[in-house]
Amino acid sequence: MQYSKLKPFPEDFLWGGSTSAYQIEGAWNNDGKGPSVIDMANHVEGVTDFKVTSDHYHHYKQDIALLAEMGFKAYRFSVAWTRIYPDGFSEINEKGIEFYNKLIDELLFYNIEPILTMYHFDLPYGLEKEGGWSNRKTVDAFEQYAETLFTHFGDRVKYWLTINEQNMMILHGSSIGTSSQDEENPQKDLYQQNHHMLVAQAKAMILCHRMLPDARIGPAPNIATIYPASSKPEDILAADTYAAIRNWLYLDVAVHGHYNATAWAYLEERGYTPIMEGDDMDILQQGKPDFIAFNYYTSQTVGESTGGEADYSHTGDQHETIGEPGAYRGSVNGNLRKTEFGWEIDPVGFRTILREIYSRYRLPLIVTENGLGAYDKLEEGDIVNDPYRIDFLRQHIEQIQLAITDGVEVFGFSPWSAIDLVSTHQGASKRYGFVYVNRDEFDIKDLRRIRKKSFYWYQKLIETNGKEM
Ligand code: BG6
Repeated sequence: MQYSKLKPFPEDFLWGGSTSAYQIEGAWNNDGKGPSVIDMANHVEGVTDFKVTSDHYHHYKQDIALLAEMGFKAYRFSVAWTRIYPDGFSEINEKGIEFYNKLIDELLFYNIEPILTMYHFDLPYGLEKEGGWSNRKTVDAFEQYAETLFTHFGDRVKYWLTINEQNMMILHGSSIGTSSQDEENPQKDLYQQNHHMLVAQAKAMILCHRMLPDARIGPAPNIATIYPASSKPEDILAADTYAAIRNWLYLDVAVHGHYNATAWAYLEERGYTPIMEGDDMDILQQGKPDFIAFNYYTSQTVGESTGGEADYSHTGDQHETIGEPGAYRGSVNGNLRKTEFGWEIDPVGFRTILREIYSRYRLPLIVTENGLGAYDKLEEGDIVNDPYRIDFLRQHIEQIQLAITDGVEVFGFSPWSAIDLVSTHQGASKRYGFVYVNRDEFDIKDLRRIRKKSFYWYQKLIETNGKEM
C-alpha cells in the first residue's frame, strides 16, 4: 500500500532506548546481589563475561543525563531479580531496592518514563539449583518478586514488561545461556518451563491490575515475520507452522489465555505437552495484558520440511533460522542484506509484522528492541561514525510510520541499545548503543562515555517527533 500522505507519529509517542540489567550494570556481586544463571553459565570463549559490562551500576547518573540530552521520552531497563532477592525468593535485599529507587527517581527528574522489564534472562541461580523454571516453585517466587516490585516501584513506574523474549529462551536457550535442566527429554522439559513462565506471567498481570489500577503491563517476546521460501503451498504451510511455534504460541496465551491450536498440535505430536495444574487455564484466562511489547531484529524464512537432517539450514543464534525436521526447513532470504553478524536486515518485514500483530490482537504496540550490532571504531578526537546504524534505524522507523498510517496503534519505539553494553553471547565489541563505552573485550580501560554520530541523529529525530530523520 502506497500513501500520498503519511500520518504523523502521535504527539506523546515514547521515543526511547533499551538495556537489560546483566548486560549493562556490572557490579555483578556488589551490595548483596546474588548470582544469576548468567553469572554461573559456562562462558563463551574469546569474549568478555558480565562482571563489569558498562558498569552502569556506578555510572547511572551520567548515563541517564546522556539519555536526557538525547531527549528520551522513555527508557526501558530491567531489574536484576538477584539484586532484589539474592537467591530468588527468601530475603529482600534493601540495597537492591535502593538502587532501582535511585535509578527511577533520576529518570523522573528528567521526565523520562521508566519502562521496567521484570525479568530479562537472568534467573536467580538459587532458583536454578532447585530446578529453575522446571520447578513450580519458581512460579511462586516470580509472583512474590512481582509483588515486591509493584509495592516498591509502582508509585512511579506506569509501564511494566513481564518477561523478555520468553520464546527465545525456549527456542535458543543455549546461545543465550539459559537452558533446560532435563538431560533425558530436554524439549519436553523446556515446554514445561515455558508453561510455568506463562502462568507466572499471567499471575503477575493479575497482580499488577489488582495492586496498580493505573499501571499498564504487557509481555515482551521477540516476534518476527515468517516468510515461505517460495509460493509453493507446502512452503506457505510450513511458514504458518513455524509462525505458530515461534510467535503465536506466546502471544495467544498472553492475550487470549489459550494455546495456539497449531502449536499445541506440534507439542502433542512430539510428546512435549506440559503438565498443567488444576487452575492453570483459569489463571491464563484471567491474566490480560494492556499492550504488547515486542522485539524485532529480523525476519525469517522457512520451507517445507524434507523430514530429515537437511532441514537444518545451519546452526544459528536467536536471530537466525534453524529448521526442525518434520515441521519446517530453515532457509535464507535472497532478497535481504545481512548484518556483519549474519542477521538478515528487513525493515519492510517490520511493517508487515506490526500489522499482523495488531490485526490479530488489537492491542496497542510498543517496540522494545530493534537495532544494529556492529564493530564500531573509536577515532581520534573521540569520534564514532556509525552511519550504518543510522541507516538501519531510519529504515525501520520509516516502516513504523507507514504501519501507523496503515492504522496500527504504536505508542513507542525503544531500540537496542540506549548505550553500549555486552551482547548476549558476542561480547563487548558487538556494539548497539547511541553512546560508546570506552572498553575493549578484556581491557576495561576508563569506561568513558562518548556520543556517537547516531546520538546526534536520534536527538534531532526525537526533537522533531520523527519529522527529521
Ligand atoms: C535480544 C535480547 O534477543 O537481542 C538482548 O533481548 C540482546 O538481550 C539482543 O542483547 C541482541 O542480541 P545479541 O546477541 O547481539 O546481544
